[in-house]
Amino acid sequence: EQTLGELAAASGLLFGCAVSSDHLSNDPSFAALVSRETSILVAEWEMKRAAVQRLEGVWDFSGGDAIAAFAARNGQKLRGHALVWHYEGPDWLKQRLAEAPDERLLTDMITRSCLHYRGQIHSWDVVNEVVDPAEGQADGLRVSSHWYRAFGEGYLETAFHAARASDPDALLFYGDYGVEMDHPDHEKKRVAVLKVIEKLKKQGAPIDGFGVQGHLDPFRTRFDERIYARFLWELQGFGLKLMVTEFDVADRFGPADVVKRDAEIAAVAGRFAEVSLANPAMIGFLAWGLTDRYSWLADYPDYKWPDGQRPRGLPYDADLRPKPMRAALAAAFTER
Ligand code: G3I
Repeated sequence: EQTLGELAAASGLLFGCAVSSDHLSNDPSFAALVSRETSILVAEWEMKRAAVQRLEGVWDFSGGDAIAAFAARNGQKLRGHALVWHYEGPDWLKQRLAEAPDERLLTDMITRSCLHYRGQIHSWDVVNEVVDPAEGQADGLRVSSHWYRAFGEGYLETAFHAARASDPDALLFYGDYGVEMDHPDHEKKRVAVLKVIEKLKKQGAPIDGFGVQGHLDPFRTRFDERIYARFLWELQGFGLKLMVTEFDVADRFGPADVVKRDAEIAAVAGRFAEVSLANPAMIGFLAWGLTDRYSWLADYPDYKWPDGQRPRGLPYDADLRPKPMRAALAAAFTER
């Protein structure tokens, strides 16, 4: 049977997932599944600022290096995630920014990470989750971000130039979530995302692509193919490459019956993947994990899972058996 990576490759697409270095080294059956099924990996946490620069002046790339080595051994590509993000500061950084908004506090992480991984990165999430229309300011920008507070919206352009200067070959992406569904909040985010991209393009920022995170919550919001397809078409209109970067399906509010739930999850996954791949600018599709054994959704505060219930939002179950979602993704990759 062809793997998801092979099916995707036949359609000019990379397929992969988020991983952690300890799962890769401590769970051989998981590592074998990942190396078999995927052609690109991304660190779920270990290449973020909170992991790389826990303490000021101390740089620790060991987690990302382990994942990069695994990918290299398996001929897989690697995504870098995430150079600039408002979440998980770390605290010392937010402190320093509040004292003196020194631009090196922004560019150091970008330059060191891009130089450290130069030649190993397919694409970087240079800036992550930078709009939040709910804050009601500045064209929907996330003005509460310590980066915005320190530098204004110019930090976005600065970040892309710093990344390009240190790694001229990596594709430079902006990624965001909550842009996929038929919901007024998602519509506001889509408008804000397009505004950010329009401005960056006007400023001549070297942005190459947009990452649709793809954290779907279909049992609370509706997925509408036309709305999502139009958004991808507008992004493509800016000459951007597209990737789905963090796909999973939150099923906390799905049907109690597992067979029914898996079938509904697979159906929306298939529709979402088909529309994603229908856009010629789409070059990769990554899930935020490969198996329910390791899904961040298990810890999602909103969901307060009833005891014993685990998330079922990824292609393989907790015993590494393929679920209907895998077949739905395989079909979408094949149909492209
Ligand atoms: O492993 C460290 C441990 O060494 C440290 O002592 C401890 C103290 O904070 O933290 C541990 O790290 C945890 C990390 O996951 C690794 O497991 C962090 O606490 C925890 O906050 C972190 O959560 C991650 C979260 O991003 C925040 O970085 C989730 O695993 C990850 O799935 C989630 O992923 C995000 C994307 O990056 C962006 N899009 C949304 C997506 C879901 O929130």
